[in-house]
Amino acid sequence: MKSIAQQSTRSPRRMNLWIRTVIAGIVVIGCGDAICATGQDKPAGFHDAPATMDRIKNPYVGQPAAIQAGSALYAAHCASCHGGSAMGSGNVPALASVRVKQASAGALFWFITHGATENGMPAWGNLSSEQRWDLVTFVQSLGSEPSRAPGLLPAASASANIPENWPAPTPPFTDFRYESPGTTRKITVQDLPSPYATPSAGNGPEVVARPASAWPKAPPGFKVQLFASNLENPRLLRTAPNGDIFLAETGAGKLIVFRGIAANGQPRETHVFATGLNEPFGIAFYPAGTNPHWIYVGNTDEVVRFPFQVGDLQARGKPEHIADLPHGQGHSTRDIRFSPDGSRMYVSVGSGSNVDDPDTHPAEKNRADILVFRPDGSDMHVYASGIRNAVGLAIDPKTGALWCSVNERDGLGDWRPTTSRTWSKVDSMAGPGGIRELIRIPAMPGNTPSWPAAPSCRTFF
Ligand code: HEC
Repeated sequence: MKSIAQQSTRSPRRMNLWIRTVIAGIVVIGCGDAICATGQDKPAGFHDAPATMDRIKNPYVGQPAAIQAGSALYAAHCASCHGGSAMGSGNVPALASVRVKQASAGALFWFITHGATENGMPAWGNLSSEQRWDLVTFVQSLGSEPSRAPGLLPAASASANIPENWPAPTPPFTDFRYESPGTTRKITVQDLPSPYATPSAGNGPEVVARPASAWPKAPPGFKVQLFASNLENPRLLRTAPNGDIFLAETGAGKLIVFRGIAANGQPRETHVFATGLNEPFGIAFYPAGTNPHWIYVGNTDEVVRFPFQVGDLQARGKPEHIADLPHGQGHSTRDIRFSPDGSRMYVSVGSGSNVDDPDTHPAEKNRADILVFRPDGSDMHVYASGIRNAVGLAIDPKTGALWCSVNERDGLGDWRPTTSRTWSKVDSMAGPGGIRELIRIPAMPGNTPSWPAAPSCRTFF
């Protein structure tokens, strides 16, 4: 895939077409006019930008030439972390977002200049002020609903793809070319570079056609087959008591049901259970057992539930709102599990940024936590805190203990793993009241020059 920058030098005509597509996309998304695209009115205090920045005007506002220059700069400097379609991932926020569109141009310029290096966002003061304004103009021209508008931008290739003939990393470090199931490598603290020894390389995912030879390797006794394809950011699978497999198709805002497996390894039936969800992730059947009456879904901003009977292939009613959840910036996934006695509902809510403190950043209140509610959404408490991004939750069926994945702070430099990427046993008691036991099991010992893999979901098997 060519980068936008390469396209613009080699094929100006294609570039123009592409720019037109972006502008058309904005119209479709419902923000076609220049006032909407410049958004000078809110929110206050975008990343602690001084209020005076809100009065600084973008000299190039809405100018096609600035958007074009900004898109090339974006491909070269930003796409590797924020993604080819500006959708973000993990704690790297989307830039095609309402938040960025509505920030004042001056505050964006200030933030791009200063960055938030503690949180993994580099400072870009080395770019000329014209280039920074081009970036502001470009990011504010993007559509504001990234999850509904995938592929808005062609994937950029500016990120550091490792060519096959690149020298092998120095042991004990490794990269994807040498990975295979069952191979372990011991990396000790002494092997690690100091924090910030280098800037953190950004090497976010880009979707390209799968080379014929590329296929996941499995340990002996396991075979990997293609089950379903053409899905938009499919994030989480949960099995209903009758064996129907429910999928949260997060990017499409849908819940899908797969039934049965045909001889070719693919589902016998595929149904759309529900649409119009907001970045759905967690799925939980309630109550436990063979006859749940509800299916709960973790949208990024709320918990909802649908009335449910085993065998349903389509929602039999509208979603019922159960609880609001804090949301926005990074870490969008919300998983849901119930305590074995059915009296409590646990919901994981990752932080907005990398390391900010809720005392100084009120937007982080009730984030980096596992929240606990009654199943009707009442009586909310913080159940476990200081867990930066507990993506997936699991209950040990034997002991009833709650487990969560832990993805702690990153952005500390290359070859430097996050503080920890682990699966943790959070609790050994039923009901709210805090953590009695926290056991951390290393899940990912190493980092690679690419964005580190993060453990997310776990199944007891
Ligand atoms: C190495 C990864 C990385 C690169 C490269 C990067 N960013 Fe970021 N960016 C981040 C992270 C992480 C955050 C979240 C920081 C925080 O929450 O404090 C962020 C946040 C932002 C935000 C604030 C978004 C919001 O909703 O709060 C803007 C705007 C932004 N980046 C623009 C850019 C631009 C423009 C470029 C390219 C010139 C760029 N970034 C390059 C990692 C990166």
